[in-house]
Amino acid sequence: MKKILFAASECVPFVKTGGLADVVGSLPAYYNKDEFDVRVILPKYTFISEKYTGQMESVTHFYMKYMERDCYVGIMTLTYEGIQYYFIDNEDYYSGNAPYTDAYYDLEKFAFFSNAVLSAFPVIGFKPDIIHCHDWQTGLIPVYLKDHYAGDEFYRDIKSVMTIHNLKFQGVWSIDAIKKLSMLSDYYFTYDKLEAYGNGNMLKGGLVYADRVTTVSKTYVEEIKTPEYGEGLHGLMQARSNDLIGIVNGLDYRVYDPENDELIPQTYGVENFRKLKKNNKTALQGKLGLKVDPKVMMIGIVSRLTDQKGFDLINAVMEDLCGDNIQLVILGTGEKRYEDMFSYYAAKFPEKVSANILYAESLSHEIYAACDAFLMPSRFEPCGLSQLMSLRYGTVPIVRETGGLNDTVEPYNEYTHTGTGFSFEHYNAHDMLHVIRYAESVFYDKKREWNRIAERAMQADFSWNRSAREYEELYLEMLEE
Ligand code: ADP
Ligand code: GLC
Repeated sequence: MKKILFAASECVPFVKTGGLADVVGSLPAYYNKDEFDVRVILPKYTFISEKYTGQMESVTHFYMKYMERDCYVGIMTLTYEGIQYYFIDNEDYYSGNAPYTDAYYDLEKFAFFSNAVLSAFPVIGFKPDIIHCHDWQTGLIPVYLKDHYAGDEFYRDIKSVMTIHNLKFQGVWSIDAIKKLSMLSDYYFTYDKLEAYGNGNMLKGGLVYADRVTTVSKTYVEEIKTPEYGEGLHGLMQARSNDLIGIVNGLDYRVYDPENDELIPQTYGVENFRKLKKNNKTALQGKLGLKVDPKVMMIGIVSRLTDQKGFDLINAVMEDLCGDNIQLVILGTGEKRYEDMFSYYAAKFPEKVSANILYAESLSHEIYAACDAFLMPSRFEPCGLSQLMSLRYGTVPIVRETGGLNDTVEPYNEYTHTGTGFSFEHYNAHDMLHVIRYAESVFYDKKREWNRIAERAMQADFSWNRSAREYEELYLEMLEE
């Protein structure tokens, strides 16, 4: 049995701000259970629902030296839907209402977490063969494994994988600060290790020291080797290109399943979506105060409202879009300027635009199920799960050809009658508007074609099965070295 431990800052159903949580919370269930024992370790945030904390059991606790202090480390465990989770308990670090709070304090919280994870192995009775680290929050783990833990017989043969879910976030502060938080010596703060552009960089540590680096789509692998997408680390990405692989994310088809989704008013499948899917649209129109009309084209957006997602393109043509015969339903929170933009248009066009500035799991499902199309014009997108959810619900994605969007949405071709969505290449508002209007014309004038696009979207397979096999192969290759 090969033992794998995921270390991450987010994981459904315990804590989620974005797609990272979906991946960490669903992939472990898809490994071959006869060959891989995959467990997950997370911080025990105090806001995790009582529903889960109430069932956790204490494994052990100890005191760990961290920045000259003796810090409490409690280890709790919970088996949930067949997967064993460990939680690092320390209420000084993991209280508050959200996983990320103050930028500097976040660095300390996750540096502490990375230390605690490695200190826990000898006392929890689970020594992984591979530790699979996700994003900057766990970037120090591969460094520690090759550093002070390397001299220790117990840790010597543990391998590490670093997965990049988003290269934009790197865990950066001054060298002095990162030195203090990581407790690493001067030796580590050179340009070929944790130093980058005069600062200390926790993710860079992981990217330099991990045995393998992965990211969440094949297109993003190529993009991050370029200055445009490399977030300053393209040189490192090029240097590690032999150890860098892209494995596209899958979707948890148990949770996102229009035939059995308890969060939507009308379930439907590929056989009957033509007749039934619009019941979700009229229900949502009623609920959100939009004009109830099963025939109007409804376009959805479910997203963190940040620069990454291309909202300045939408802002540039919002007035034009609102002049079209469409409805727009937005669900998201984030940067105030984007929240304000959508709220402004919702006030101006109340029958057409619904701006829901909140985080709501249930409403997200209702939107995926109700809309005809889903808009995701990202500036960059390592993978993207929202478009996979849309495909699954027969909600035709309109995307920019970047990262995982490029790898998962096949553009409609009216001559060959193929494709699962609509796309445009350049980061340009008018190109986006043009393709939205093309989609509108297919929706209104060629309904049978539209329905075939939606049907192919629903039939596309983005379950975890294939991608989980790719991770298994990667692990096996590493363990043979
Ligand atoms: P990212 O991780 O960059 O935010 P993804 O597309 O990979 O983008 O994943 C986003 C996830 O977060 C999806 O599961 C999406 O449904 C969910 N999500 C984003 N915003 C909200 C919101 N306001 N309410 C509910 N779910 C949301
Ligand atoms: C990040 C990316 C998103 C990806 C998710 C899960 O949040 O922005 O594209 O789908 O991680 O890998």
